Amino acid sequence: GDTGTSVTGQGGPRDSRLTENEAANTLTTRQGHPIKNNQNTRTVGNRGPATLENYQFIEKVSHFDRERIPERVVHARGAGAHGYFETYGKVGDEPISKYTRAKVFQDAGKQTPVFVRFSTVMHGNHSPETLRDPRGFAVKFYTEEGNWDLVGNNLKVFFIRDAIKFPDFVHALKPDPVTNIQDNERVFDFLSNTPEALHMITLVFSPWGIPANYRQMQGSGVNTYKWVNKDGEAVLVKYHWEPKQGIKNLTQKEADEIQKNNFNHATQDLYEAIERGDYPEWELFVQIMSDDEHPELNFDPLDDTKIWPKDQFPWYPVGKMVLNKNPENYFAEVEQAAFGTGVLVDGLDFSDDKMLQGRTFSYSDTQRYRVGTNYLQLPINAPKKHVATNQQGGDMEYEVDTAGQSNPHINYEPSNIDGLKEYSDSDKDYTPHVEGNLVRETLDRTNDYEQAGNAYRELDDVERNDLISNLVSALADCRSIIQEKMIEHFTKCDEDYGRRVKEGLEKHMLSMKAKAEQAVQEAEQKGHSTDSY
Ligand code: HEM
Repeated sequence: GDTGTSVTGQGGPRDSRLTENEAANTLTTRQGHPIKNNQNTRTVGNRGPATLENYQFIEKVSHFDRERIPERVVHARGAGAHGYFETYGKVGDEPISKYTRAKVFQDAGKQTPVFVRFSTVMHGNHSPETLRDPRGFAVKFYTEEGNWDLVGNNLKVFFIRDAIKFPDFVHALKPDPVTNIQDNERVFDFLSNTPEALHMITLVFSPWGIPANYRQMQGSGVNTYKWVNKDGEAVLVKYHWEPKQGIKNLTQKEADEIQKNNFNHATQDLYEAIERGDYPEWELFVQIMSDDEHPELNFDPLDDTKIWPKDQFPWYPVGKMVLNKNPENYFAEVEQAAFGTGVLVDGLDFSDDKMLQGRTFSYSDTQRYRVGTNYLQLPINAPKKHVATNQQGGDMEYEVDTAGQSNPHINYEPSNIDGLKEYSDSDKDYTPHVEGNLVRETLDRTNDYEQAGNAYRELDDVERNDLISNLVSALADCRSIIQEKMIEHFTKCDEDYGRRVKEGLEKHMLSMKAKAEQAVQEAEQKGHSTDSY
């Protein structure tokens, strides 16, 4: 049947495909058919009915029907930007090669392209950016040795220390499965049974839980990683990003004011800053510990609910990052970007942090589902270097990894004939010794309250007042067993912390009671004075 289009010749590069009457902006189908009429569906007479052979209409609408991919199960709302990382090549006065052989960090002044995605966590793709939530801070480094992803948050600790709890944690904080509304009672029902979350709760319910925008917030790798040098020796490291723009957080009241008029303020702020050439910049710091259990500490260095105190483990600046280019297309770059904690280069390694290992499974697993089997072939995710694997096929394979190889018949290794060969260099393998019983146990030094108490005491007065008021209004939605459990936890962090939440709740309950009594009185008076009909 007639397709509503005229068919032109194919072949040759895009530009030379234009026929005599076509311009570069001529509308076509994805098959290259120029479209003469984009206003009217093809019908039998102008009153219809429509016909099923209408290729132009069906292609257009069926593609539209598939415009969305599943949003990220967490961190669905985000904004991204391109830029570069520049290494300082040193840790303090020492060459960085003493600690890591990763090329991205060698040779002071060397630049590596990056793509960053900032995000909120709990709510959906178009939710307000003023919500109380951690903020994601994910960086993809396109290094000469392949990609490295540093998938962090703005805060330096996390709610849980074992990945097996993550689905429950997320269910409790996401909207209720029946009402589809986030419910403080469900949130604190879970958290009151999760004392390791106290440190994070104290930060998230203070103004640190609502960064003013993405440019004026810190970043942190949160989990503990390792660095490995040429001799195969490892140290434990933590990563932190410090904004050159300074840090700015919002009280609940300030956030409410912004949200009244704008629920995209953080995306807008980042985009507009880069458009006007005001490029945001962060310095990357590392903290380093020798690679052992550190029995002298009252926390485990692998516990992501803890910070490594700055006075014991200094922050060393190791490089800076500048974001200087907005995405050309949000979906292609930001929505399809896939970061994962498993994406490391030689010289950067995992620690035994079991939370980190759980995360590492989760990211690429979800991305094979969310974006597709061949998500690493998309330009935003592909390394900016030679890729040669014997992997093939799968949904939407875009190119063959062995293209350009001398013998494309040899898609296996090893081979006597030809094909891809292993790489070798003189660096010593890092081969940690691992031994122990298989168990289901938590870490020994849980120490859930001490650092949470420190965090409480380190807040300034405005921040502490806001924390108490935010906790009181959230806990007011909860039944008393949950309130009591939370007050007990806060008291263990700091006596003043528990007392203030308790008093706040009592005051809140009294004022609710007074309001209710007043309402009853008013209703009674009304009942006496008005005639019912
Ligand atoms: C996104 C899992 C903890 C930072 C995600 C996604 C999953 C996930 C499935 C969606 C990824 C996608 O669809 O592309 C987990 C699990 C965790 C965990 C299982 C705990 C066991 C953390 C922690 C941090 C973090 C501790 C911070 C250090 C992020 C960030 C993103 C993300 C920044 C968004 C990445 C992007 O912008 O695309 N996480 N996560 N997650 N997670 Fe986690």
